[in-house]
Amino acid sequence: MFRQCSRSPPSPPSPLLQELSQAIYGYVWVVVAFQYSQSLLDQRRGFKRKQSFFFFLIRPNLYRLDILLRSGFVMAGESQKWILMATARAPTNIAVIKYWGKRDENLILPINDSISITLDPDHLSATTTVAVSPSFEKDRMWLNGKEIPLSGGRYQNCLRELRSRAGDFEDENRGIQIKKEGWNKLHFHIASYNNFPTAAGLASSAAGFACLVFSLAKLMNVKEELGQLSAIARQGSGSACRSLYGGFVKWTMGNEMSGRDSKAVQLANETHWEDLIIIVAVVSSRQKETSSTSGMRESVETSSLIQHRAKVVVPSRILQMEEAIRNRNFSSFARLTCADSNQFHAVCLDTSPPIFYMNDTSHRIINLVERWNRHEETPQVAYTFDAGPNAVLIAPNRKVASSLLQRLLFYFPPGPDNELNSYILGDKTILQEAGIESLNHIEALKPPPEAKDKVPSQRFAGDVSYFICTRSGKGPEVLMEEEHALISSQTGLPKIPI
Ligand code: DP6
Repeated sequence: MFRQCSRSPPSPPSPLLQELSQAIYGYVWVVVAFQYSQSLLDQRRGFKRKQSFFFFLIRPNLYRLDILLRSGFVMAGESQKWILMATARAPTNIAVIKYWGKRDENLILPINDSISITLDPDHLSATTTVAVSPSFEKDRMWLNGKEIPLSGGRYQNCLRELRSRAGDFEDENRGIQIKKEGWNKLHFHIASYNNFPTAAGLASSAAGFACLVFSLAKLMNVKEELGQLSAIARQGSGSACRSLYGGFVKWTMGNEMSGRDSKAVQLANETHWEDLIIIVAVVSSRQKETSSTSGMRESVETSSLIQHRAKVVVPSRILQMEEAIRNRNFSSFARLTCADSNQFHAVCLDTSPPIFYMNDTSHRIINLVERWNRHEETPQVAYTFDAGPNAVLIAPNRKVASSLLQRLLFYFPPGPDNELNSYILGDKTILQEAGIESLNHIEALKPPPEAKDKVPSQRFAGDVSYFICTRSGKGPEVLMEEEHALISSQTGLPKIPI
Protein backbone atom coordinates (compact mmCIF):
# COMPACT_ATOMS: atom_id res chain seq x y z
CA MET A 1 0.00 0.00 0.00
CA PHE A 2 2.83 2.43 0.66
CA ARG A 3 6.49 2.64 0.25
CA GLN A 4 8.85 2.22 3.14
CA CYS A 5 12.28 3.68 2.90
CA SER A 6 15.12 3.71 5.30
CA ARG A 7 17.97 6.09 5.71
CA SER A 8 20.85 3.67 5.31
CA PRO A 9 21.67 2.82 8.92
CA PRO A 10 25.40 3.15 9.67
CA SER A 11 25.78 -0.42 10.95
CA PRO A 12 23.07 -2.90 11.88
CA PRO A 13 23.06 -4.06 15.51
CA SER A 14 24.86 -7.36 15.93
CA PRO A 15 22.47 -10.35 16.16
CA LEU A 16 24.34 -11.54 19.27
CA LEU A 17 23.65 -8.22 21.00
CA GLN A 18 19.99 -8.36 20.00
CA GLU A 19 19.57 -11.90 21.30
CA LEU A 20 21.34 -11.03 24.53
CA SER A 21 19.14 -8.00 25.17
CA GLN A 22 16.02 -10.04 24.37
CA ALA A 23 17.14 -12.75 26.77
CA ILE A 24 17.68 -10.18 29.54
CA TYR A 25 14.27 -8.63 28.95
CA GLY A 26 12.70 -12.11 28.91
CA TYR A 27 14.39 -12.96 32.22
CA VAL A 28 13.30 -9.66 33.75
CA TRP A 29 9.67 -10.30 32.80
CA VAL A 30 9.75 -13.79 34.33
CA VAL A 31 11.03 -12.30 37.59
CA VAL A 32 8.42 -9.56 37.51
CA ALA A 33 5.62 -12.01 36.84
CA PHE A 34 6.82 -14.13 39.75
CA GLN A 35 7.07 -11.12 42.09
CA TYR A 36 3.63 -9.92 41.06
CA SER A 37 1.96 -13.31 41.57
CA GLN A 38 3.63 -13.53 44.99
CA SER A 39 2.33 -10.13 46.02
CA LEU A 40 -1.20 -11.11 44.85
CA LEU A 41 -1.01 -14.29 46.92
CA ASP A 42 0.24 -12.29 49.88
CA GLN A 43 -2.59 -9.82 49.56
CA ARG A 44 -5.10 -12.66 49.44
CA ARG A 45 -3.52 -14.18 52.52
CA GLY A 46 -3.96 -10.81 54.16
CA PHE A 47 -0.39 -9.74 54.92
CA LYS A 48 2.05 -7.30 53.38
CA ARG A 49 5.54 -8.40 52.52
CA LYS A 50 8.38 -6.05 51.90
CA GLN A 51 9.43 -5.91 48.26
CA SER A 52 12.65 -7.75 47.83
CA PHE A 53 15.86 -5.86 47.32
CA PHE A 54 16.15 -7.49 43.92
CA PHE A 55 12.78 -6.11 42.76
CA PHE A 56 13.80 -2.68 43.97
CA LEU A 57 16.95 -2.89 41.85
CA ILE A 58 15.25 -3.87 38.61
CA ARG A 59 12.30 -1.46 38.90
CA PRO A 60 13.93 1.50 37.09
CA ASN A 61 14.84 -0.75 34.16
CA LEU A 62 11.33 -2.14 34.00
CA TYR A 63 10.02 1.38 33.97
CA ARG A 64 12.20 2.23 30.98
CA LEU A 65 11.11 -0.90 29.14
CA ASP A 66 7.48 -0.13 29.92
CA ILE A 67 7.87 3.36 28.40
CA LEU A 68 9.32 1.83 25.26
CA LEU A 69 6.41 -0.54 24.95
CA ARG A 70 3.81 2.07 25.71
CA SER A 71 5.30 4.49 23.18
CA GLY A 72 4.62 1.84 20.61
CA PHE A 73 8.13 1.00 19.50
CA VAL A 74 10.06 -2.08 19.96
CA MET A 75 13.32 -1.29 18.28
CA ALA A 76 16.78 -2.58 18.57
CA GLY A 77 19.90 -0.46 18.32
CA GLU A 78 20.32 1.55 15.12
CA SER A 79 16.82 0.93 13.71
CA GLN A 80 15.93 4.41 15.06
CA LYS A 81 17.07 5.60 11.63
CA TRP A 82 14.11 4.32 9.64
CA ILE A 83 11.85 6.56 7.59
CA LEU A 84 8.40 5.45 6.42
CA MET A 85 6.79 7.36 3.58
CA ALA A 86 3.57 7.48 1.57
CA THR A 87 2.81 9.58 -1.50
CA ALA A 88 -0.64 10.31 -2.89
CA ARG A 89 -2.31 12.52 -5.45
CA ALA A 90 -5.74 14.11 -4.92
CA PRO A 91 -7.87 16.10 -7.35
CA THR A 92 -9.45 19.48 -6.95
CA ASN A 93 -13.15 20.02 -7.50
CA ILE A 94 -15.45 22.73 -8.79
CA ALA A 95 -18.76 23.32 -7.06
CA VAL A 96 -21.84 23.56 -9.27
CA ILE A 97 -24.04 24.19 -6.21
CA LYS A 98 -21.88 26.32 -3.92
CA TYR A 99 -20.93 25.96 -0.29
CA TRP A 100 -20.93 29.44 1.24
CA GLY A 101 -21.40 29.98 4.96
CA LYS A 102 -20.66 27.97 8.11
CA ARG A 103 -22.79 27.15 11.12
CA ASP A 104 -19.70 26.04 13.09
CA GLU A 105 -16.39 27.73 12.29
CA ASN A 106 -14.19 25.36 14.23
CA LEU A 107 -15.60 22.07 12.94
CA ILE A 108 -16.29 23.62 9.50
CA LEU A 109 -19.97 22.72 9.30
CA PRO A 110 -21.81 24.37 6.40
CA ILE A 111 -25.24 26.02 6.30
CA ASN A 112 -26.23 24.16 3.12
CA ASP A 113 -25.48 21.07 1.05
CA SER A 114 -23.27 21.50 -2.03
CA ILE A 115 -22.47 19.52 -5.19
CA SER A 116 -19.24 19.46 -7.18
CA ILE A 117 -17.48 17.85 -10.11
CA THR A 118 -14.07 16.38 -9.40
CA LEU A 119 -11.56 17.54 -12.01
CA ASP A 120 -9.06 15.28 -13.76
CA PRO A 121 -6.02 15.01 -11.45
CA ASP A 122 -3.71 14.86 -14.48
CA HIS A 123 -4.48 18.55 -14.94
CA LEU A 124 -5.49 19.90 -11.51
CA SER A 125 -4.30 18.11 -8.42
CA ALA A 126 -2.11 18.13 -5.34
CA THR A 127 0.62 15.58 -4.75
CA THR A 128 1.69 15.02 -1.15
CA THR A 129 4.38 12.91 0.45
CA VAL A 130 4.13 12.23 4.18
CA ALA A 131 7.10 10.80 6.03
CA VAL A 132 7.49 9.62 9.60
CA SER A 133 10.64 8.75 11.53
CA PRO A 134 11.70 8.56 15.17
CA SER A 135 14.52 10.91 14.22
CA PHE A 136 12.12 13.77 13.24
CA GLU A 137 12.00 16.32 16.04
CA LYS A 138 8.79 18.15 15.11
CA ASP A 139 6.00 18.19 12.52
CA ARG A 140 7.07 20.17 9.45
CA MET A 141 5.42 20.98 6.13
CA TRP A 142 6.57 22.38 2.79
CA LEU A 143 4.05 23.68 0.24
CA ASN A 144 5.38 24.07 -3.30
CA GLY A 145 8.91 23.95 -1.90
CA LYS A 146 8.41 26.63 0.78
CA GLU A 147 8.21 25.74 4.46
CA ILE A 148 4.89 26.76 6.03
CA PRO A 149 3.82 26.63 9.70
CA LEU A 150 1.80 23.58 10.73
CA SER A 151 0.64 25.25 13.92
CA GLY A 152 -2.72 26.33 12.40
CA GLY A 153 -5.82 24.84 13.99
CA ARG A 154 -6.98 23.26 10.73
CA TYR A 155 -3.81 21.19 10.24
CA GLN A 156 -3.77 20.29 13.91
CA ASN A 157 -7.43 19.19 13.80
CA CYS A 158 -6.74 16.87 10.85
CA LEU A 159 -3.58 15.46 12.46
CA ARG A 160 -5.37 14.89 15.78
CA GLU A 161 -8.31 13.12 14.13
CA LEU A 162 -6.00 10.87 12.12
CA ARG A 163 -3.69 10.07 15.05
CA SER A 164 -6.70 9.02 17.10
CA ARG A 165 -7.74 6.56 14.36
CA ALA A 166 -4.28 5.23 13.49
CA GLY A 167 -3.73 1.48 13.39
CA ASP A 168 -0.83 -0.77 14.38
CA PHE A 169 2.01 -1.03 11.91
CA GLU A 170 4.63 -3.73 11.67
CA ASP A 171 7.49 -4.52 9.34
CA GLU A 172 9.07 -7.68 10.71
CA ASN A 173 11.96 -7.67 8.26
CA ARG A 174 13.16 -4.31 9.42
CA GLY A 175 12.19 -4.71 13.04
CA ILE A 176 9.78 -1.79 12.98
CA GLN A 177 6.67 -1.92 15.06
CA ILE A 178 4.42 1.03 15.71
CA LYS A 179 1.49 0.51 18.03
CA LYS A 180 -1.65 2.63 17.67
CA GLU A 181 -0.62 4.83 20.60
CA GLY A 182 2.90 5.17 19.17
CA TRP A 183 1.75 7.52 16.41
CA ASN A 184 1.13 10.22 19.04
CA LYS A 185 4.82 10.37 19.80
CA LEU A 186 6.06 10.43 16.22
CA HIS A 187 6.48 13.52 14.05
CA PHE A 188 5.73 13.98 10.36
CA HIS A 189 7.48 15.68 7.50
CA ILE A 190 4.97 16.66 4.80
CA ALA A 191 5.75 18.01 1.33
CA SER A 192 2.95 19.04 -1.01
CA TYR A 193 2.87 20.37 -4.53
CA ASN A 194 -0.03 21.77 -6.60
CA ASN A 195 0.09 21.62 -10.39
CA PHE A 196 -1.98 24.83 -10.59
CA PRO A 197 -1.86 28.30 -8.95
CA THR A 198 -2.37 28.30 -5.18
CA ALA A 199 -5.19 30.46 -3.74
CA ALA A 200 -6.29 31.84 -7.12
CA GLY A 201 -9.87 30.64 -6.73
CA LEU A 202 -9.08 27.16 -8.09
CA ALA A 203 -9.77 25.35 -4.82
CA SER A 204 -6.13 24.54 -4.11
CA SER A 205 -6.93 24.03 -0.43
CA ALA A 206 -9.49 21.40 -1.43
CA ALA A 207 -6.93 19.25 -3.25
CA GLY A 208 -4.28 20.00 -0.60
CA PHE A 209 -6.25 18.92 2.47
CA ALA A 210 -7.84 15.95 0.68
CA CYS A 211 -4.36 14.76 -0.26
CA LEU A 212 -2.92 15.39 3.21
CA VAL A 213 -5.67 13.38 4.90
CA PHE A 214 -5.62 10.59 2.31
CA SER A 215 -1.83 10.12 2.37
CA LEU A 216 -1.59 10.28 6.18
CA ALA A 217 -4.45 7.78 6.49
CA LYS A 218 -2.49 5.35 4.27
CA LEU A 219 0.73 5.89 6.19
CA MET A 220 -0.92 5.49 9.59
CA ASN A 221 -2.99 2.48 8.60
CA VAL A 222 -6.28 4.28 9.32
CA LYS A 223 -9.07 1.85 8.50
CA GLU A 224 -11.92 4.38 8.03
CA GLU A 225 -14.11 4.49 4.91
CA LEU A 226 -13.69 7.36 2.45
CA GLY A 227 -16.80 9.05 3.88
CA GLN A 228 -15.24 9.31 7.33
CA LEU A 229 -11.95 10.50 5.83
CA SER A 230 -13.95 13.19 4.01
CA ALA A 231 -15.29 14.37 7.39
CA ILE A 232 -11.67 14.74 8.54
CA ALA A 233 -10.59 16.57 5.36
CA ARG A 234 -13.60 18.87 5.90
CA GLN A 235 -11.93 20.10 9.08
CA GLY A 236 -8.98 21.27 7.00
CA SER A 237 -11.07 23.10 4.41
CA GLY A 238 -14.77 22.58 3.79
CA SER A 239 -14.58 22.01 0.04
CA ALA A 240 -11.76 19.45 0.59
CA CYS A 241 -14.27 16.83 1.73
CA ARG A 242 -15.67 16.64 -1.82
CA SER A 243 -12.19 15.85 -3.25
CA LEU A 244 -12.13 12.43 -1.57
CA TYR A 245 -14.26 11.05 -4.43
CA GLY A 246 -14.11 11.18 -8.20
CA GLY A 247 -16.96 12.15 -10.52
CA PHE A 248 -19.98 13.95 -9.05
CA VAL A 249 -19.99 14.51 -5.32
CA LYS A 250 -22.44 15.88 -2.77
CA TRP A 251 -21.39 17.28 0.61
CA THR A 252 -24.33 16.66 2.94
CA MET A 253 -24.37 19.38 5.57
CA GLY A 254 -25.50 16.95 8.33
CA ASN A 255 -27.32 17.70 11.58
CA GLU A 256 -25.13 16.30 14.34
CA MET A 257 -23.26 18.75 16.57
CA SER A 258 -20.13 16.58 16.33
CA GLY A 259 -20.07 16.92 12.53
CA ARG A 260 -19.79 13.15 12.00
CA ASP A 261 -22.61 13.25 9.46
CA SER A 262 -21.28 16.29 7.59
CA LYS A 263 -19.42 14.41 4.89
CA ALA A 264 -19.15 13.74 1.18
CA VAL A 265 -21.04 11.10 -0.78
CA GLN A 266 -20.42 10.16 -4.38
CA LEU A 267 -23.44 10.74 -6.63
CA ALA A 268 -21.85 9.16 -9.72
CA ASN A 269 -18.32 8.25 -10.70
CA GLU A 270 -16.24 9.90 -13.42
CA THR A 271 -17.42 7.52 -16.14
CA HIS A 272 -21.11 8.39 -15.64
CA TRP A 273 -21.05 11.54 -17.81
CA GLU A 274 -17.82 11.17 -19.75
CA ASP A 275 -18.73 13.54 -22.58
CA LEU A 276 -18.53 16.66 -20.43
CA ILE A 277 -15.54 18.88 -21.20
CA ILE A 278 -14.38 21.52 -18.73
CA ILE A 279 -12.33 24.56 -19.72
CA VAL A 280 -10.81 26.69 -16.97
CA ALA A 281 -9.90 30.25 -17.90
CA VAL A 282 -7.19 31.34 -15.47
CA VAL A 283 -7.89 35.03 -15.43
CA SER A 284 -5.46 35.88 -12.72
CA SER A 285 -3.05 33.68 -10.84
CA ARG A 286 -2.43 36.31 -8.17
CA GLN A 287 -3.48 35.54 -4.61
CA LYS A 288 -7.06 36.60 -3.99
CA GLU A 289 -7.70 39.49 -1.61
CA THR A 290 -10.52 38.05 0.53
CA SER A 291 -10.11 34.41 1.48
CA SER A 292 -13.17 32.15 1.24
CA THR A 293 -12.99 31.67 5.00
CA SER A 294 -13.26 35.34 5.92
CA GLY A 295 -15.55 36.10 2.98
CA MET A 296 -18.16 33.57 4.04
CA ARG A 297 -17.87 34.64 7.69
CA GLU A 298 -18.67 38.22 6.67
CA SER A 299 -21.56 37.03 4.48
CA VAL A 300 -23.09 35.02 7.35
CA GLU A 301 -22.77 38.06 9.64
CA THR A 302 -24.13 40.70 7.28
CA SER A 303 -26.06 39.29 4.29
CA SER A 304 -29.81 38.69 4.55
CA LEU A 305 -29.81 36.98 1.15
CA ILE A 306 -27.56 34.17 2.41
CA GLN A 307 -30.23 32.88 4.83
CA HIS A 308 -32.87 32.76 2.10
CA ARG A 309 -30.38 31.03 -0.18
CA ALA A 310 -29.42 28.37 2.39
CA LYS A 311 -32.95 27.65 3.62
CA VAL A 312 -35.09 28.01 0.50
CA VAL A 313 -33.08 28.12 -2.74
CA VAL A 314 -30.32 25.54 -2.26
CA PRO A 315 -32.43 22.63 -0.92
CA SER A 316 -34.60 22.59 -4.04
CA ARG A 317 -31.63 23.20 -6.35
CA ILE A 318 -29.78 20.25 -4.83
CA LEU A 319 -32.67 17.94 -5.73
CA GLN A 320 -32.89 19.33 -9.25
CA MET A 321 -29.14 19.09 -9.74
CA GLU A 322 -29.05 15.48 -8.55
CA GLU A 323 -31.76 14.68 -11.09
CA ALA A 324 -29.97 16.54 -13.89
CA ILE A 325 -26.76 14.62 -13.18
CA ARG A 326 -28.58 11.30 -12.90
CA ASN A 327 -30.29 11.84 -16.30
CA ARG A 328 -27.33 13.61 -17.92
CA ASN A 329 -29.70 16.48 -18.68
CA PHE A 330 -27.30 19.19 -19.83
CA SER A 331 -29.87 22.02 -20.23
CA SER A 332 -31.06 21.65 -16.66
CA PHE A 333 -27.49 21.13 -15.38
CA ALA A 334 -26.27 24.29 -17.14
CA ARG A 335 -29.18 26.49 -15.99
CA LEU A 336 -28.72 25.42 -12.37
CA THR A 337 -24.93 25.79 -12.47
CA CYS A 338 -25.01 29.34 -13.88
CA ALA A 339 -27.85 30.43 -11.59
CA ASP A 340 -26.07 29.11 -8.50
CA SER A 341 -22.77 30.77 -9.38
CA ASN A 342 -24.58 34.06 -9.94
CA GLN A 343 -26.46 33.78 -6.67
CA PHE A 344 -23.27 33.03 -4.75
CA HIS A 345 -21.68 36.20 -6.19
CA ALA A 346 -24.91 38.09 -5.43
CA VAL A 347 -24.52 37.03 -1.79
CA CYS A 348 -20.94 38.37 -1.93
CA LEU A 349 -22.30 41.70 -3.18
CA ASP A 350 -24.97 41.59 -0.46
CA THR A 351 -22.19 41.31 2.15
CA SER A 352 -21.11 44.43 3.97
CA PRO A 353 -18.63 45.63 2.84
CA PRO A 354 -19.35 43.94 -0.52
CA ILE A 355 -16.91 41.31 -1.79
CA PHE A 356 -15.92 41.38 -5.47
CA TYR A 357 -14.38 38.13 -6.59
CA MET A 358 -15.06 38.52 -10.30
CA ASN A 359 -13.43 41.18 -12.46
CA ASP A 360 -14.13 42.70 -15.92
CA THR A 361 -12.71 39.66 -17.71
CA SER A 362 -14.97 37.36 -15.67
CA HIS A 363 -17.98 39.50 -16.64
CA ARG A 364 -16.96 39.42 -20.33
CA ILE A 365 -16.80 35.62 -20.21
CA ILE A 366 -20.31 35.49 -18.68
CA ASN A 367 -21.59 37.78 -21.46
CA LEU A 368 -19.95 35.63 -24.13
CA VAL A 369 -21.69 32.49 -22.83
CA GLU A 370 -25.07 34.14 -22.14
CA ARG A 371 -25.18 35.68 -25.64
CA TRP A 372 -24.31 32.35 -27.24
CA ASN A 373 -26.84 30.40 -25.15
CA ARG A 374 -29.58 32.92 -25.95
CA HIS A 375 -28.71 32.84 -29.66
CA GLU A 376 -29.07 29.03 -29.75
CA GLU A 377 -32.18 29.19 -27.55
CA THR A 378 -30.84 26.38 -25.37
CA PRO A 379 -27.80 26.28 -23.06
CA GLN A 380 -24.64 25.40 -24.98
CA VAL A 381 -22.23 25.90 -22.11
CA ALA A 382 -22.39 26.40 -18.32
CA TYR A 383 -20.16 28.79 -16.38
CA THR A 384 -19.27 28.93 -12.72
CA PHE A 385 -16.90 31.08 -10.63
CA ASP A 386 -15.56 30.33 -7.15
CA ALA A 387 -13.96 32.87 -4.83
CA GLY A 388 -11.81 34.38 -7.56
CA PRO A 389 -12.03 35.73 -11.12
CA ASN A 390 -11.25 32.44 -12.93
CA ALA A 391 -14.04 31.03 -15.07
CA VAL A 392 -14.88 27.33 -15.16
CA LEU A 393 -16.80 26.54 -18.35
CA ILE A 394 -18.54 23.22 -18.90
CA ALA A 395 -19.50 21.98 -22.37
CA PRO A 396 -21.69 18.92 -23.02
CA ASN A 397 -19.26 17.33 -25.54
CA ARG A 398 -16.03 17.83 -27.52
CA LYS A 399 -17.77 19.45 -30.49
CA VAL A 400 -19.31 22.21 -28.38
CA ALA A 401 -16.06 22.47 -26.39
CA SER A 402 -14.08 23.21 -29.56
CA SER A 403 -16.62 25.91 -30.58
CA LEU A 404 -16.27 27.33 -27.07
CA LEU A 405 -12.48 27.37 -27.35
CA GLN A 406 -12.71 29.20 -30.68
CA ARG A 407 -14.89 31.86 -29.08
CA LEU A 408 -12.65 32.18 -26.03
CA LEU A 409 -9.54 32.52 -28.19
CA PHE A 410 -11.26 35.03 -30.45
CA TYR A 411 -12.06 37.34 -27.51
CA PHE A 412 -9.02 36.50 -25.35
CA PRO A 413 -6.04 35.82 -27.60
CA PRO A 414 -2.67 35.33 -25.92
CA GLY A 415 -0.56 38.35 -25.05
CA PRO A 416 2.53 39.22 -27.12
CA ASP A 417 4.91 37.10 -24.99
CA ASN A 418 2.77 33.97 -25.02
CA GLU A 419 3.20 30.78 -27.01
CA LEU A 420 0.28 28.61 -28.00
CA ASN A 421 1.77 25.63 -26.17
CA SER A 422 1.83 27.41 -22.83
CA TYR A 423 -1.47 29.22 -23.42
CA ILE A 424 -3.59 26.06 -23.71
CA LEU A 425 -2.79 23.47 -21.06
CA GLY A 426 -4.26 20.08 -20.19
CA ASP A 427 -5.99 18.14 -22.95
CA LYS A 428 -4.66 19.89 -26.08
CA THR A 429 -6.59 17.66 -28.47
CA ILE A 430 -9.59 20.04 -28.19
CA LEU A 431 -7.35 22.69 -29.69
CA GLN A 432 -6.68 20.49 -32.73
CA GLU A 433 -10.39 19.78 -33.06
CA ALA A 434 -10.99 23.54 -33.05
CA GLY A 435 -8.59 23.72 -36.04
CA ILE A 436 -6.06 25.84 -34.19
CA GLU A 437 -2.44 24.85 -34.69
CA SER A 438 -0.62 28.17 -34.47
CA LEU A 439 -0.94 31.72 -33.21
CA ASN A 440 -1.78 32.76 -36.78
CA HIS A 441 -4.91 30.61 -36.63
CA ILE A 442 -6.01 32.51 -33.51
CA GLU A 443 -5.29 35.79 -35.27
CA ALA A 444 -7.48 34.69 -38.18
CA LEU A 445 -10.52 33.65 -36.07
CA LYS A 446 -13.80 35.32 -37.09
CA PRO A 447 -16.28 36.77 -34.56
CA PRO A 448 -18.90 34.17 -33.57
CA PRO A 449 -22.31 34.36 -35.37
CA GLU A 450 -24.10 35.66 -32.26
CA ALA A 451 -21.77 38.70 -32.26
CA LYS A 452 -23.07 39.86 -35.68
CA ASP A 453 -25.02 43.10 -35.90
CA LYS A 454 -23.24 44.25 -32.76
CA VAL A 455 -20.63 46.99 -32.60
CA PRO A 456 -17.26 45.75 -34.00
CA SER A 457 -15.99 43.04 -31.66
CA GLN A 458 -13.25 44.07 -29.32
CA ARG A 459 -10.50 41.55 -28.50
CA PHE A 460 -8.76 41.45 -25.13
CA ALA A 461 -5.28 40.09 -25.72
CA GLY A 462 -3.44 39.08 -22.54
CA ASP A 463 -6.46 39.36 -20.19
CA VAL A 464 -6.47 35.59 -19.65
CA SER A 465 -3.22 34.05 -18.36
CA TYR A 466 -3.95 30.59 -19.80
CA PHE A 467 -6.67 28.00 -20.34
CA ILE A 468 -6.77 24.46 -18.96
CA CYS A 469 -8.83 21.91 -20.91
CA THR A 470 -9.92 19.06 -18.70
CA ARG A 471 -12.79 16.75 -17.73
CA SER A 472 -14.30 14.99 -14.75
CA GLY A 473 -11.74 12.78 -13.03
CA LYS A 474 -11.07 10.14 -10.42
CA GLY A 475 -10.58 10.49 -6.67
CA PRO A 476 -7.32 10.28 -4.67
CA GLU A 477 -4.79 7.53 -5.34
CA VAL A 478 -1.56 6.29 -3.83
CA LEU A 479 1.54 6.81 -5.99
CA MET A 480 3.89 3.89 -5.52
CA GLU A 481 6.88 4.85 -7.66
CA GLU A 482 9.83 6.39 -5.85
CA GLU A 483 10.12 9.09 -8.54
CA HIS A 484 6.80 10.63 -7.37
CA ALA A 485 7.95 11.06 -3.76
CA LEU A 486 8.56 14.69 -2.84
CA ILE A 487 10.67 13.81 0.21
CA SER A 488 14.08 12.21 0.06
CA SER A 489 14.22 8.80 1.68
CA GLN A 490 17.80 9.59 2.69
CA THR A 491 17.39 12.94 4.41
CA GLY A 492 13.66 13.08 5.25
CA LEU A 493 13.60 16.56 3.69
CA PRO A 494 12.01 17.84 0.44
CA LYS A 495 13.89 16.67 -2.64
CA ILE A 496 13.68 20.08 -4.32
CA PRO A 497 15.91 22.57 -2.51
CA ILE A 498 14.01 25.51 -1.01
C1 DP6 B 1 -16.57 29.43 -3.24
O1 DP6 B 1 -13.56 25.34 1.28
O2 DP6 B 1 -12.11 27.28 0.59
O3 DP6 B 1 -15.19 27.56 -3.49
O4 DP6 B 1 -14.04 25.85 4.46
O5 DP6 B 1 -13.25 28.14 4.96
O6 DP6 B 1 -11.70 26.49 3.92
P1 DP6 B 1 -13.14 26.95 4.07
O7 DP6 B 1 -13.58 27.45 2.62
P2 DP6 B 1 -13.37 26.79 1.21
O8 DP6 B 1 -14.61 27.46 0.46
C2 DP6 B 1 -14.91 27.21 -0.85
C3 DP6 B 1 -16.03 28.05 -1.29
C4 DP6 B 1 -16.29 28.04 -2.77
C5 DP6 B 1 -17.53 27.21 -3.09
C6 DP6 B 1 -17.38 25.71 -3.01
O9 DP6 B 1 -16.30 25.17 -3.29
O10 DP6 B 1 -18.39 25.07 -2.71
